[in-house]
Amino acid sequence: MKIAISGKGGSGKTTIAAGLIKILVEKNKSVIALDCDPDISLGLALDFPAYNEIKPISQMKDLIFERTGVDPANPQGFFQINPKVDDIPERFCPQDKGIRLIVMGKVDKPQGGCLCPENTFVRSLVGHLVLRQDEVVILDMAAGSEHLGRATARGVDVFLISVEPSATSLQTAKHIKELAEGLGLTKIFFIGNKIKDASDLDFIQSSLGNKLIGSVSFSRTLEGSRGKFVFDQNLRKEFETIYNTLAAVPGADNPRD
Ligand SMILES: Nc1ncnc2c1ncn2[C@@H]1O[C@H](COP(=O)(O)OP(=O)(O)OP(=O)(O)O)[C@@H](O)[C@H]1O
Ligand SMILES: [Mg+2]
Repeated sequence: MKIAISGKGGSGKTTIAAGLIKILVEKNKSVIALDCDPDISLGLALDFPAYNEIKPISQMKDLIFERTGVDPANPQGFFQINPKVDDIPERFCPQDKGIRLIVMGKVDKPQGGCLCPENTFVRSLVGHLVLRQDEVVILDMAAGSEHLGRATARGVDVFLISVEPSATSLQTAKHIKELAEGLGLTKIFFIGNKIKDASDLDFIQSSLGNKLIGSVSFSRTLEGSRGKFVFDQNLRKEFETIYNTLAAVPGADNPRD
């Protein structure tokens, strides 16, 4: 199963990605964690060894040239739009305790980079990775909706949108949903985050209905953890529930398989 997590800036994408990854690892899954945010943070959240020394994929110019047939510094001519990617995680991305961390990095292209070799490569990585039975891919997306133009998440099975109990967060979340639908994605769901009480939950539930498939309470543990994801008892319970709900999404590979 491949799961992307999107949402407004600061709404909890990285937190939800890290919580899901930790739960999946506890269930003996192998996780390929893709940090698609140019402001790299998933490595810190996961407390991944030497996370800030990992070379981003978008900076592997020679590799991108080799696989796409086009020099990212001088992108001219035809390029291979389905470059070979299956060996990338194992060959180029570090692994620790059941998690392989892939850092996408920045793509500095004035035109937004939809057609540049770096994005083609990164998009292929998400779309064409063939997973083993026990593997799950989790994408922590950049804030807002701009990344949807690059369609990095087009190949995912499930698209989650984190939403805080605020009108602006809801508005952004709904906009992201529309754009994700425009990419042809169908399994799009919301996860409430930083929920303080029943009225917070009511507020988002009344707007999102059955598309809200889970929620994470506001946690003093997370508030004080300086970017690192740590479970407390309540968080673990909430992420277990989200995991079970995702496992029951019809038509998506079951992460429990
Ligand atoms: N449920 C929660 N309870 C308390 N604090 C939280 C919770 N979820 C996230 N936070 C805190 O809110 C801040 C933003 O969370 P996070 O980094 O996960 O959001 P994000 O959507 O990934 O942000 P960005 O758009 O910058 O990538 C972090 O300091 C995080 O620790
Ligand atoms: Mg983040």
